Amino acid sequence: MKTPGSVTPLFVTNLYRADLAGQGKVDALLEDLDDTCRAIADEDEAGQTWSQQKGYVGYTSYASLNDLPARASVFAELKAVLDGHVAAFAEALDFDLHGKKLKLDSMWINILEPMGHHSSHIHPHSVISGTFYVSIPEGASALRLEDPRLAFMMHAPLRKASGKAEHQSFVNVTPMAGTVLLWESWLRHEVPINLSDDVRISVSFNYG
Ligand SMILES: [Fe+2]
Repeated sequence: MKTPGSVTPLFVTNLYRADLAGQGKVDALLEDLDDTCRAIADEDEAGQTWSQQKGYVGYTSYASLNDLPARASVFAELKAVLDGHVAAFAEALDFDLHGKKLKLDSMWINILEPMGHHSSHIHPHSVISGTFYVSIPEGASALRLEDPRLAFMMHAPLRKASGKAEHQSFVNVTPMAGTVLLWESWLRHEVPINLSDDVRISVSFNYG
């Protein structure tokens, strides 16, 4: 139905997406990242222990390694790719950075085994967060984003499932290998159960 007045989106929550697979350089990077992430996961006993203690089904370097771009050149190459996308997103968001650039302040590997998940969370002390997807086998988890205003919506009607994505309270975004997703770090998100038979590999990061 055409509305008799105008409807203006205000206070918009933005998600940035770039699908980079198919570019020769990125495809080589994906192969390297896949090998390197698995090799680091095999070696990093502190990370394995932390993942086990926290109930992370798989491996994450989140709490054990803070030097990925220095540790392996493939992460420095990834950082160089991401820097451009983060700058473009900051521009699209009209951030006033006083001529400065957002800088990578952390980057970590996630290898999620079948039936693993990562419950709902935000990324404190950060401006832009995101994930670069390395291996997304058939049936692997999407990224689920939550409307940041959900807590205010005690008496609001539910939205039609057939309604626009921007009106839903939860949105699942399905990445591919080579996808970069970026969002503002305060945006709550989760990784639902990995229903694939294989591991889902990604590299997440924070820019401040
Ligand atoms: Fe996250």
